[in-house]
Amino acid sequence: MSRAVLERLEQVVVQAQQGGGPERIERQHQRGKLTARERLEVLLDPGSFCELDMFVTHRAADFGLDRQHPLGDGVVTGWGRIDGRLVYLFAQDFTVLGGSVGQAHGQKICKVLDLALENGAPLIGLNDSGGARIQEGVDALSAYGEIFYRNVLASGVIPQISVIMGPCAGGAVYSPAITDFVLMVEGTAQMFITGPDVVRAVTREEISAEELGGASLHHHTSGVAHFTAQDDRAALALVRQLLSYLPANNAEDPPHVSPVDPPDRSEASLDELVPEDPALGYDMRAVIRCVVDDGVFLEVQAGFAANLIVGFARLDGYVVGVVAQQPLVLAGVLDIDAADKGARFIRFCDSFNIPLVTLADTPGFLPGVSQEHGGIIRHGAKMIYAYAEATVPKLSVITRKAYGGAYIVMSSKHLRGDVCLAWPGAEIAVMGPEGAVNVVFRRELGSAGDPEAERARLVDEYRDTFANPYVAAARGYLDGVIRPRQTRPMLIRALRMLRDKRVRRPPRKHGNIPL
Ligand code: HXC
Repeated sequence: MSRAVLERLEQVVVQAQQGGGPERIERQHQRGKLTARERLEVLLDPGSFCELDMFVTHRAADFGLDRQHPLGDGVVTGWGRIDGRLVYLFAQDFTVLGGSVGQAHGQKICKVLDLALENGAPLIGLNDSGGARIQEGVDALSAYGEIFYRNVLASGVIPQISVIMGPCAGGAVYSPAITDFVLMVEGTAQMFITGPDVVRAVTREEISAEELGGASLHHHTSGVAHFTAQDDRAALALVRQLLSYLPANNAEDPPHVSPVDPPDRSEASLDELVPEDPALGYDMRAVIRCVVDDGVFLEVQAGFAANLIVGFARLDGYVVGVVAQQPLVLAGVLDIDAADKGARFIRFCDSFNIPLVTLADTPGFLPGVSQEHGGIIRHGAKMIYAYAEATVPKLSVITRKAYGGAYIVMSSKHLRGDVCLAWPGAEIAVMGPEGAVNVVFRRELGSAGDPEAERARLVDEYRDTFANPYVAAARGYLDGVIRPRQTRPMLIRALRMLRDKRVRRPPRKHGNIPL
């Protein structure tokens, strides 16, 4: 082969790797953003990236596009390794046509999505784009449609992770929204259907882009962002951490690590953790950390619906998904947002063979006009549906209150919890003692000489009769009542017992979860 031919290849590769050129790269850096290629370098094991379609260009000719045919068309795609495990990726290059999605750009993303699905490995998308490429009209829209379709086909088959590292506007937000996890970079990532200008024109509301769709907003208020990170590097490190809990696909188990933490470690402090006064809260995160391997817990959607905690941990080296009430926030009630958050997490774990560990302490569903009118019936039903539908091993521990519907919802025997345990102070009943006494003894309290003393007596009686774990245990609804310090060893033994659990369900196209 002639030297000239090889030199031409080298020149073309260098040209492709330059993206939108030094000025635009400098602007990207000034904003605190890495370029698409730098991001892939940070994310992947060194030297593992193999690029596809470096020479792809668009074929559009309108509005000046005939004068520029950047190599790669504004997106870098390919495969690589994270901790030695195969992943497929695309990284939009904002320095090239603003990372906008035209037909060729979309086809490149679809190619890696198809490969990821066929070969059973996660898909990671690094999003940094002005959205549909205006000059390509309906071809740009069709590109998005093809991506959405594949996102849906891949859902529940391979993990899909979206990292938002710049603008993500218009219908473009729906690809990340369909994927399993959305990570946003603080200060530089924004997601919205319509930006501040359109909002001002339509509703006359004044709002900045950051307030409308920044990382903090989506992490704390809308619940769209599962994680936020302070910069590109932190976001990419978080992706690596998240992947360490996930299997490559739905036919595999999640990665097991050799445990260092002894499986029979009993944690004496748990016996003292729940306050005697049922009105006082305690930190369920402390319980989780005491129970799981080495106290390591990756919380998901930590800023949203903080009355419910969800996240990944390990027990005996095996990955589990933890779902737990947080008594420190709204006393751990189940509300609309908590139900949405919990149901989606449970369904993710069930799709990817991740056993569920539930720690329940909830006074029930949140009463109130806004909850009822907001559809707590529809949303709360999602939790029931998700737990009942899940066929992975399901373990639960009632640490204190489990009242009413919330008792049933939180992985109870009735929804086919495999091993259901309670701590000795657990209260399981149709409702809390005060409410129950008011309903059942309203007339008696009205005619009592000292209503308050009578109420207190009845509350004590109710608590002794109903609000304890022994009634449920006597019926076999609970498999055992354990000392809190025994929680870790018991959960690990139960998990080992359930390792080969298989459940058959009647054939159907798909269920119809209330959405
Ligand atoms: C073509 C685009 C583009 C787009 C940006 N660019 N968005 N080119 N189509 N959608 C180009 C710009 O012309 C510019 O080119 C370069 O990208 C960088 O853009 P700037 O505006 O200079 O950058 P910045 O000031 O940082 O602003 C970024 C931005 C803004 C906020 C994203 O560009 C913007 O508002 N773009 C339009 C966003 C949008 O409304 N997209 C359509 C959404 S609707 P040069 O050559 O100067 O570097 C949609 C529908 C999807 O996406 C439907 C799916 C169902």
